[in-house]
Parts: sequence; structure tokens; C-alpha cells
Amino acid sequence: MSILGKNFSKFRMILPNVVRGRAVSTTPKLSSEDLLVHRDSEENNPCVPFQFTEANMKRLVAIVQNYPEGSQRSAISGAMDLVQRQMGWIPISAMHKVAEILSIPRIRVYEWATFYSMCKRRYRGKYHVKVCKTLPCMLRGSDIILRTVEEATCCCVGSLSPDKMFGVDVVECQGACANAPVIAIDDDYYEDLTVSDVYNIIQTIKCGNIPPAGPQSGRYAAEPACGQCSLLGCPPGPGYCMQPSLYCDSKPPT
Ligand code: FES
Repeated sequence: MSILGKNFSKFRMILPNVVRGRAVSTTPKLSSEDLLVHRDSEENNPCVPFQFTEANMKRLVAIVQNYPEGSQRSAISGAMDLVQRQMGWIPISAMHKVAEILSIPRIRVYEWATFYSMCKRRYRGKYHVKVCKTLPCMLRGSDIILRTVEEATCCCVGSLSPDKMFGVDVVECQGACANAPVIAIDDDYYEDLTVSDVYNIIQTIKCGNIPPAGPQSGRYAAEPACGQCSLLGCPPGPGYCMQPSLYCDSKPPT
């Protein structure tokens, strides 16, 4: 056996089992992730007719007019938002309609629809609950928050509750990390959550009311939880900490 071989077998002896195993890391499957492909189904196929309502058509025309001639494709986000508000989700026939109205290839609409996680390409319940699981929320207990959401809504991640009232999904950072853990229900963010907050929120929705959105801890926004701890005095005036050699006429600026 070579020197390296001898040393290596000695080294193996002292390695813990976990390191000696195959160095393959895997990511657990997130069943909430929709396939990035479309499969025709009875309720979602190109033959299912879709039309904007008259009011939404007027809104779409107004949105398109915000963009210069030739750049109407920039209205795609506004158009898709209108579809989702009208239908609750975005069927493929609506994507085709958007492409037709904006005179863009259908692939441009498919790209948009598969890129943004707020785009629902299948029905996600009357209330779509999105639980953030990115690092700041995870460090602040998003695992237990997710389990609580699933329990309170009787709905597993990626599916619908039996009464089709709730759909639950896991999402990446929702941009409110300072108030982690966070869930979003449709357009509203619920922040600084505890397990009992989640039960209260879901229960209030089940009773037909919309609970107040925002931090549930009593914070107004993202200020320190223990009260203001910086910028306590009056702000210093101009010339603060300026080198005297930079003063005009040997006087600090006022
Ligand atoms: S990590 Fe959850 S909002 Fe940013």
C-alpha cells in the first residue's frame, strides 16, 4: 500500500460516519412549486374562452396608454394582474388573450407567468396563503408557522383545503425580513407572527372577516421592537465633523 493509501485509511478511521458517506447533498422537494410547463386540463386549456370584462378592458387600455408607441408589451404585468383579479388565477387562454391584445408572441407571456411567483397558474383557493421560508423567516420560526398554517387551514403545502377556501404555498423572501416571520394572504402581509397569531388570522378569515394586516406584535412598521434606540438627539447641522482646514473664513458652515 502506498504512503497516501496508508494515511488515507487511517484518516477514514477517524472520520465520523456522516462524512464517510457519499458527499451528495439533496434539496427536499417543495410540492408547492408548480411545474414550469403547462399541461392541458379540462378547466385550463386553450379552448376555454376568456374575455376581459368591460371594466377591466377599459383599465387595460388605460394601462397600455402609459407606455410609448411600440412599447405596449411593457403593459404585460398590468394585464396579467387584471386577469388574476378577474379570475382569481391565470388560465392559459387568458395568457393568449393578453398576447393577442399586446401584439406580442405568446412565449413572452409564458415567460412572465413562469417567472413571478405571485402569478397563479392554477386555482389556489379563495384565500392564497404564502409562507416565507427564506433564511431570516426560517431563523425566526417559519417552520412552525408553516405547520400551524397547514393545521389551521386543513391544507398541505401545494394543495387546497377541502372546502377550497385556502391554498397554501411556500415562497421565497417577500421583502419584509425585518418583520420575520411573515406570511402573505392575497395582497396583505402578516408580520412578526406567533403561532397564536396564525390561528387568530385564519379563524378571523373563516368567520368572513379580514384581519388587520401588518406587524402583529404591536410594532407600527420595522422600528426596533424595544423602542427607538438610535437618532435620539437633534440631527447635527452642516459641517458636522468637517476638518477645520476646510472651513471658509476659518468658520464652520452654518
Ligand atoms: S426572508 Fe421572509 S420576508 Fe425576507
